[in-house]
Amino acid sequence: MLSLREQVPLAPLTTLSVGGRARFFVEADTPDDVREAFAYSSAHGLPLFVLGGGSNLVVADAGWPGLVLHLKISGISQRAEGSRVIFEVGAGESWDSFVGATVAAECAGLECLSGIPGTVGGTPVQNVGAYGQEVADTIVVVTAFDRVSGEIRIFSNADCGFAYRTSIFNTSDRDRFIVVQVAYALERGASPKIEYADLKRFFADKPSPSLQAVRDAVRQIRQGKGMLLVEGDPDVRSAGSFFKNPIVGTQRFVELDAEMQSRGLQLPNYPADDGQRKLSAAWLVEKAGFHKGYVHGNVGISSKHTLAIVNRGAARASEIVSFMNVIRETVFSRFAIDLHPEPVFLGFEQTPVRAMR
Ligand code: EPU
Repeated sequence: MLSLREQVPLAPLTTLSVGGRARFFVEADTPDDVREAFAYSSAHGLPLFVLGGGSNLVVADAGWPGLVLHLKISGISQRAEGSRVIFEVGAGESWDSFVGATVAAECAGLECLSGIPGTVGGTPVQNVGAYGQEVADTIVVVTAFDRVSGEIRIFSNADCGFAYRTSIFNTSDRDRFIVVQVAYALERGASPKIEYADLKRFFADKPSPSLQAVRDAVRQIRQGKGMLLVEGDPDVRSAGSFFKNPIVGTQRFVELDAEMQSRGLQLPNYPADDGQRKLSAAWLVEKAGFHKGYVHGNVGISSKHTLAIVNRGAARASEIVSFMNVIRETVFSRFAIDLHPEPVFLGFEQTPVRAMR
């Protein structure tokens, strides 16, 4: 039996800690609960929003007029399949605890994704990635409830259409599927992946680290950037990276690079798909004048990483959104690049992302 609550404050369920209440709110412990909640919302004409860990979410000050479904489906099972170990995990499991369990089981593939807040169910949706790994590398099956057919569906890795911070779940089929379980195939006894510059630097004079050593290093590096949830650290009242790293075509990159050189600046860039280049949103934001620790009323920039917008205490969602747009407009006027926010926005009447001219 579902237990329906009313007028539940959402800010405490998000890391950014802004926004109003959910008109109705229910927790789902099983896929059947998801089905029941969906049926309830349809029968009562209530828009349904699925909440996981709340680490990538901006809730509007007006809150959410419909039903919030808090996914709490738990359970981790593992089975061997040749040299691989398949982990099947409930969508509501804490991501970082799960990663810790895979490392303890000597299974490689997720160690670089240590210390990321949120729950397992959110990881396929935005193809979570960090420090040289992304979940698209290891996900084998996503099990999700289909709001159109009312049935559970099974997706292979290819079905998910993964790319940088995207999948079908946040693009072509946005808001259609509710992830209830994810299966990851990991390699038992394999070495950790040390390809990202920060990690190479960390292990420069410590060769062949264990998976656990890499997990610890990633958590330490993330903490240094305010990207690890630590009690009492004001820089973690954020939604992580607020902007995606922009990806530009070769020609645009060459022009921009030349222009930056003429200004005496070295434009950081990384390879992306199809010969494109990925730029650093943090660098662009910084060069547009928003340095670490920048203060804008009740909001600002993290003192540890330029890419995180922080709630400095009593912020409202509207202040987060207007600061986001100030940053986007300034970056656009300096570099003609439109930064796209990474978090999900809930309850805003229109898209809060102002169009650039
Ligand atoms: N940089 C700055 N200022 C800063 C930080 C970084 O100019 O304050 C520049 C530097 O040139 C640096 C480059 O940005 O070399 C890359 O910085 P970093 O390694 O911190 O990575 P990022 O691109 O800013 C991405 C992800 C993070 C992930 C890290 C580590 C996105 C939008 N963000 O950040 O993911 O943890 O790489 O792999 O892709 C998240 O998505 O919420 C998130 C935290």
